[in-house]
Amino acid sequence: MGIVLGIESSCDETAAALVTTERTIIAQRIASQIDEHAPYGGVVPEIAARAHAEKLSPMIAQVMDEAGLELDQLDAIAATAGPGLIGGVMVGLVSAKALAMASNVPLIAINHLEGHALSPRLADPALEFPYLLLLVSGGHCQILRVENVGQYRRLSTTIDDALGEAFDKSAKILGLGYPGGPALEKLALQGDPKGAALPRPLLGSKEPHFSFAGLKSAVMRAKESGAYRDEDIAASFQQAAIDCLIDRLKFSIAKSAPVSTLVVAGGVAANNAIRTALETFAADQNMQFVAPPLALCTDNAAMIAWAGAERLASGQSDALDFAARPRWPLDPDAEPVRGAGAKA
Ligand code: KG4
Ligand code: ZN
Repeated sequence: MGIVLGIESSCDETAAALVTTERTIIAQRIASQIDEHAPYGGVVPEIAARAHAEKLSPMIAQVMDEAGLELDQLDAIAATAGPGLIGGVMVGLVSAKALAMASNVPLIAINHLEGHALSPRLADPALEFPYLLLLVSGGHCQILRVENVGQYRRLSTTIDDALGEAFDKSAKILGLGYPGGPALEKLALQGDPKGAALPRPLLGSKEPHFSFAGLKSAVMRAKESGAYRDEDIAASFQQAAIDCLIDRLKFSIAKSAPVSTLVVAGGVAANNAIRTALETFAADQNMQFVAPPLALCTDNAAMIAWAGAERLASGQSDALDFAARPRWPLDPDAEPVRGAGAKA
């Protein structure tokens, strides 16, 4: 058995966790920066980097204390090395390098998206490769064929906004707080999914990709028209998003090698309406459906430690001069698509 320390600091959560190669989460801490960013309605990179710098070291000390472990008892230190906000990524990666150097423990630089992609295997030992992954977060909206550790084929991505971003922007338009996804989901519970006529961008397209910018603009117009109740706009937005997800998944399934399991991961996977719709869709397709527990869906360090454990098990580690990568596609062979460069 091996023990991996995981560090996550690529966006607005500072997190540290200790996870074993046998899938036990020994200790974990997470500090959200919601209060720091809320007045600005979104994540402010400078504030994020400063908050990570303040919170990370004591947090690592806490999880080590809680587990009763010394650094040299670890088998690896895994940190998110990108993609994400460079200031925050640097804080986590530099801390990991310093600890790795001081204790002579191998460093493993983790792609944040790989953390999300492999997180379902932490919760579900029965989940085997390959699987079809819908990765939906604040920065990404992709369909990937996860073939093995380190082998990801991107089938689809967004040409503009990520789905979580569309949730957050639509929530802002509706005057809901930040982060908007959970608030919008809550409001949608009281609304009619057919209450406002909203578009389904790229539905039926012969290209595999997503687009959500037009949906967000339509939410803006619906709100400004004064013709609809906010809860109906929220429910209609969520339904439009679900219809787009299902349509694009159908397209990817039809175009790629057969795969028997559909997995959802990333922050938006915490959305119950989306989970339920995906579950029904998977059953229709005779596919198994796997969704990690909510705490593993949104950003956390257990998934980074686990990705480290998977890499450790396949004999991989990284040099101490590994450079942070603010952009780092999971599938290096995927063709760039219009507009998505900034995110992928
Ligand atoms: O994976 P994550 O924690 O961070 C990124 O890597 O982006 O995802 C955060 C995103 C935010 O856009 C947030 O609004 C969205 O996930 N989110 C949700 C829900 N919970 C979080 N979106 C819709 N419904 C939710 N319940
Ligand atoms: Zn994430």
